[in-house]
Order: sequence, then C-alpha cells, then structure tokens
Amino acid sequence: MEDAKLRIAIFVGAKGRGSNMQAIIDACGAGQINGEVVCVVGNVEGAPALERASEQGIPAEVVPYDSEDPEKYGRALLGLLHRYDARLIALAGFLKRLPANLVSEFAGRIMNIHPALIPSFCGLGMYGERVHQAVIDSGVKYSGCTVHFVDEQYDTGPIIDQAVVRVEPDDDAHTLAARVLVQEHLLYPRCIGLFAEGRLKVEGRRVRILPPRPD
Ligand code: GRF
Repeated sequence: MEDAKLRIAIFVGAKGRGSNMQAIIDACGAGQINGEVVCVVGNVEGAPALERASEQGIPAEVVPYDSEDPEKYGRALLGLLHRYDARLIALAGFLKRLPANLVSEFAGRIMNIHPALIPSFCGLGMYGERVHQAVIDSGVKYSGCTVHFVDEQYDTGPIIDQAVVRVEPDDDAHTLAARVLVQEHLLYPRCIGLFAEGRLKVEGRRVRILPPRPD
C-alpha cells in the first residue's frame, strides 16, 4: 500500500516572491514529493507568496507576529497547524525566529533553506542580497545553498544537504543570487521528498540519507 502523503505547511516572508514555495508545490504536483501543501502561512496580509498560493487554491493564512509574547504566537501557529493536520513545516523566506513551543512540538519536522553554504554567511541578519554581497566581499570562490532542520537559533540546526555554485569573477549580489536560486529550487524539493519517504535520519549534528526502501 502506498504511504499517505506528507502534509506540508509552508511559512513565507512578508516580501518573498514565493519561488521556493512554488518549487515545492510543483514537486508535489509532479509526484517528486509524496506530499501535499496543505497551507501557506505568513505574517502579513497581502504578502506576494500568500497571494500566489491563494491563486492556486491553496489556503493562505496570516498569523501576525507577536514579538511581545512568543508563547502566544507559538500557540496561534500550533492551532493552525493542528487544524490542517500539518506534519512538516517548510520555511521559505520566513525570517522570524520560531517560538520555543512550536520548535519543541515540531522537533525534527521543520526545515529551512538558506542561500549560502552554512556555517558560513548565515545567522541573524543574514538574508536576501546581504548574504550574496557578503560572499562576494569575502572573496570565496564557491557559494551555494543549504537545507537544514530548524532549531531555536538562526541557521544552526542539522544540515540535510547542500548544493554548490561557482562565484564568477564578475558576479554581483544579483547575478550570484540568481545562480544560487536555480539550485535552491532543485535542492529543497529533493530534501522534502527524502523526508516524505522517511529517508532522513538525524544522528547528533549529522543527517544520514538512507537508501530507498525496497517496494
Ligand atoms: C531564498 O533565497 C531562500 O534561500 C531564503 O529566502 C529566499 C526566499 O525566496 N530563505 P523565495 O520567496 O522562495 O523566492
């Protein structure tokens, strides 16, 4: 019997285009992920990614960020996730720190994509073009993207997989971001697909990718 589809909630940012969200939706549609995007969650009404989800008939929900009371914010998010029976949270451009009660209940079931090779060029304040500018300013020859499990800090959870791109001599933050983004759209669905198949095993800091299960 075929395994039940993984129920995925995607958290998006206020300004994000939602291109990673779209890559995940498309990979579910194409059967590359044995899963279904059951809701998309943002902090503010009118976020482009929320509108993009709505246009495709995917429920788009807004939970306003509450910096004063993270516990309450976490309860609101958990209520929503229970309502949709979500089993995996995929952060895609979501920039807020997740509240402890949410991280604890969803331990090992929250992923993020970062547009650089963690543990370099990451952490608080490292997002968007800043990341790529820092990469260029540093003079490194390679950058890339990282999919990792999420803990309570920024970009510190166990790394699931990474993809590498060359930094070209005439790159600016914009051209480098575009080259990395192509890899993001391949890497994130692949990692979620492995999770859906039960093939990711966390052993301390290391994530082992298990071979496919025999049919
Ligand atoms: C991506 O670069 C991702 O790595 C980062 O936020 C950006 C979101 O872009 N976490 P998009 O909204 O998915 O196009």
